[in-house]
Amino acid sequence: MCGIVGFTGSQSAAPLLLDGLKKLEYRGYDSAGIAVLSQEGIHLEKAAGKIKNLDEKIQGGATMTGSSGIGHTRWATHGAPTDENAHPHMSNGGRFALVHNGIVENYVELREELMAQGIQFKSETDTEVVVNLLDLYYAGDLKAAVLKTVARLEGAYALGILCKEEPGRLITARHAAPLILGVGKGENYFASDVTALVAHTKDVIYLEDGEIADITPESITIYDTAGELLEKSIEHVTWDVAAAEKGGYEHFMLKEIMEQPEALRATIEPRIKHGEIVLDDFSLSDSELKKINKIMITACGSAYYAGSVGKYVIEQLCRIPVEADLASELRYRNPLVDEHSLLVVVSQSGETADTIAAMKECKARGARILAIVNVVGSTIARLADDVIYTWAGPEIAVATTKGYTTQVAVMDMLAVYLARRLGRLEDGEYKTLVEAIRSFPELVQQSIDQNPKLPELAEKYHGHNNLFFIGRNLDFAACLEGSLKLKEISYLHSEAYAAGELKHGTIALIEEDRPVIALACYEALLDKMLSNIREVKARGAEVLAVVLDGNREIFDEADDVILIPRTHPLLNTLPEIVPLQLFAYYMAKSNGCDIDKPKNLAKSVTVE
Ligand code: AGP
Repeated sequence: MCGIVGFTGSQSAAPLLLDGLKKLEYRGYDSAGIAVLSQEGIHLEKAAGKIKNLDEKIQGGATMTGSSGIGHTRWATHGAPTDENAHPHMSNGGRFALVHNGIVENYVELREELMAQGIQFKSETDTEVVVNLLDLYYAGDLKAAVLKTVARLEGAYALGILCKEEPGRLITARHAAPLILGVGKGENYFASDVTALVAHTKDVIYLEDGEIADITPESITIYDTAGELLEKSIEHVTWDVAAAEKGGYEHFMLKEIMEQPEALRATIEPRIKHGEIVLDDFSLSDSELKKINKIMITACGSAYYAGSVGKYVIEQLCRIPVEADLASELRYRNPLVDEHSLLVVVSQSGETADTIAAMKECKARGARILAIVNVVGSTIARLADDVIYTWAGPEIAVATTKGYTTQVAVMDMLAVYLARRLGRLEDGEYKTLVEAIRSFPELVQQSIDQNPKLPELAEKYHGHNNLFFIGRNLDFAACLEGSLKLKEISYLHSEAYAAGELKHGTIALIEEDRPVIALACYEALLDKMLSNIREVKARGAEVLAVVLDGNREIFDEADDVILIPRTHPLLNTLPEIVPLQLFAYYMAKSNGCDIDKPKNLAKSVTVE
């Protein structure tokens, strides 16, 4: 998605803005720009393509003087990725420069209104409408003009504003798009993401929807859209830039795969005390919990696949109906939720537009909302009734790994926790489950360590396209994630398929050398899976099986085997998925793909 940054202080702004934009590259973008204010007025530079094009154009910022400014990385939503459409955008008279993340849904009517008043537009963007509306309303009082402007906007926006007549002053406004303020000494910042700030300050203020910040080098004043002053707390970020750098790995994705034991430990340990799962973040009382007659899980992409794991485990342990639904579907299907429904919303970024919309739809119908998110202060975290954070740390690679596995870990803890509170777990089973969850970090590490041949396996299979991932029950849920990982970073097509469903048509696609990754860790259905493996083998498939340690039968059936450490039958997903993450990683590497920033993808899809 788009990223915005801003700085005001005594240093030259341009190099700092460039650095901030580089920290936001992972969000996905196709052009970038910077505007700084000096005695001569607003100096604007922008360039299509990678940030290095802009960097070269302004010689690292040396050609732009001025100690306050704004910057932007654009992920095109309205208009092609060109210099003209790149942000910042200037008002007709050159008084304002503005950057924007989000979509203004009523920009067409606003544009017509402005054109009727003689305003001319150079770009196809919705953003250029906003900056000219601001100029139209400006009569010397910047705050009043901003309030009047945002009152006209419908849709999502995080705005950064620079005014020629207000040296050193920046204005930011936020609605349904992330915006964080960085509090420095004699200087202040704003950005779409904390990652762009931590090199300069770890003291941050999370803006919420409907909040506006008036920023100078010495002060930050925050008010609401009615112009009323607001008191906001300053929060301290606990991780540093190094955590957001590669740490010696070739790719962020590999670093984040290898960080999973640590991320799981950070997510699980604080929530297991004296052998009990403790979810202080979940405030439903016993009486309220007993009234819940349906659990809905909604998310997008990998977060949805983590939710699919949760569906099986929660339903199995709690014996409450659990539905997992894609947020982009749930939001439009007039969902059957009410005050007796618990909606679990899963999101790494906490900013996914479809997930937010589905959440609002269900909240409006009375559902109780529990969010599982990785980004503190994100929109989903702030809209939920309760939040269980996955303490995975910053995830930079577009393809999620530790984000997904920590989501699954929280799902597993939630299932055991709820089942215990509902009186559905005897002490012995409960203790076994809690211990199994506590051992996730070691199991994941063991799963990595005992599969050193994954690069060779990838080398063997990387020339193939149209691979199949097949599995049953929890293995099928893992197939969904394994298949997406492969597709999104290696660009090889694959399909996750319920193994029992193959014979109903799709087996027609199985032919000589068709690679089939068969997940057979849910051992209650192992015999069925062995039959499915024989079915596809009989039609010429090349089978890579993923099974539990000690499974000897599989060696007679499969061409290649990945062995994973054994744990509770409901909890094998984490040790099982990690070799599939690595398989996808090495396949992509063999194919020479841009692993951390796959084509067409963004880390957080904040538009529909
Ligand atoms: C996962 O590797 C993808 N990058 C994508 O499917 C992602 O999981 C999805 O867009 C949801 O993002 P979120 O968890 O930030 O809401």
